[in-house]
Amino acid sequence: MGKGVAKILAGIDNQIHEVIILCRSKELGMATIKELEYSSGNKKLSIILCDLAKLIDVKKAIDEIQRKHDFLDCIFINAGLGYAAERVETEDGMDSHFQVNYLSQFMLTLNLLNLLENSENGGRVIFNVTRGGKIFWDDIQMQKNWSFENGIHQAMVAKRMFLFKLDDLYKRFKGSKVSFIGFEISQTVWSNQLNIIPVSMRIMATIMKFFGTFISIEKCGLIMAPLFTERFEESRKKSGKFVTWKKNEFIEIKEDNVVFNPDMQDSLWKASLELCKDKQTAQIAESLNSFTK
Ligand SMILES: NC(=O)c1ccc[n+]([C@@H]2O[C@H](COP(=O)([O-])OP(=O)(O)OC[C@H]3O[C@@H](n4cnc5c(N)ncnc54)[C@H](OP(=O)(O)O)[C@@H]3O)[C@@H](O)[C@H]2O)c1
Repeated sequence: MGKGVAKILAGIDNQIHEVIILCRSKELGMATIKELEYSSGNKKLSIILCDLAKLIDVKKAIDEIQRKHDFLDCIFINAGLGYAAERVETEDGMDSHFQVNYLSQFMLTLNLLNLLENSENGGRVIFNVTRGGKIFWDDIQMQKNWSFENGIHQAMVAKRMFLFKLDDLYKRFKGSKVSFIGFEISQTVWSNQLNIIPVSMRIMATIMKFFGTFISIEKCGLIMAPLFTERFEESRKKSGKFVTWKKNEFIEIKEDNVVFNPDMQDSLWKASLELCKDKQTAQIAESLNSFTK
C-alpha cells in the first residue's frame, strides 16, 4: 500500500511532491525509486534505510531525516508485518508485530512532529489502520498467546489510541498545527502479502480476485492521495477521526469507546515510552504531556 501511495504522489500535481520512502532493503528501495522515477518522471524521490524491527535503526532514521529535511508535509504510518507462520522476537526482545507495526512508528512519529509543525501546508500524519483489535495488557509481547491475527489487530488498536491522543493534545494545546487521521481501506489491496501467505490462502485469494474482491496498489494510492494533498482546512476536519472511502467520498467509521479512554491511552503511552528506552523520545513525550498538567 505504501508503494501505491508513493507512486501516485510522485506522479500527480506536475510531479511537485518530494517523496521519501522508508525501507529496510537498499536493493528493493533503489529498485522502487527507479520504477517510480520511470512511471512518474519525478526525480525528487529518495530512500531512508530503516528496519522497523530494530529501535537503533529507527533512531538512525530519525537522525537522518532531521539532518536532511527542515520540514515534512505528511507522513504515512503504513509499513507492517502481516502474515507470519510463527512468533518472531526482535533483537530488542519484543514481538515483531508489536514493534514493527506499532512501537517503532510511535517513536518515529513523536520524533518527526517538529518537522510536521514546520510544514507551510499544514503537517499531517495518516495512519493505515483497520477497525477492532484489543490490547493484551497482561501479555503485550504475546509470549503466552500468539497468533499473527492478534498481533496485527493489537498493533492496529494501539495505533488508533496513539493517534487520538495526539489529536487531542494538539487540538487542546498546540493550536492544531498537525492533523492525525486514521484511514481504513474498504477493499482488500492486492499487495506483496499475496507473495507471503501460504499456498492454500493464495489459491483462495486468486479465486476471490476473479470476483473483484481486490484492488490494486495504484487504485489504493489514488483513493488515499487526497488525504496527503488536500487543503489543511479539509485535513483538519478529519483530524482525530477514523475514516474510510465509500461511494466516492471519505466517511467516518464509528470508533470503539475503549480507544478514546484517556486512562487506556495513557497506560499505552507510558508502556510505549518505557519500551522505546530513548531519552529524546521521552523528552518529546514529556513536553507534550506537560501541557495537560
Ligand atoms: N492489503 C490490505 O488490504 C490491507 C488492508 C488494511 C490494512 N493493511 C495494512 O497496511 C499495511 C501495509 O500492508 P500491505 O498489504 O501493503 O503489506 P505488504 O505488501 O506486505 O507491505 C508491507 C510493507 O511493510 C514493510 N515492512 C515490513 N516489515 C518491515 C520492517 N521490519 N522494517 C521496515 N519495513 C518493513 C515491507 O517491506 P519489505 O518490502 O522489505 O518487506 C513492505 O514494504 C500493513 O500494516 C497492513 O496490516 C493492509
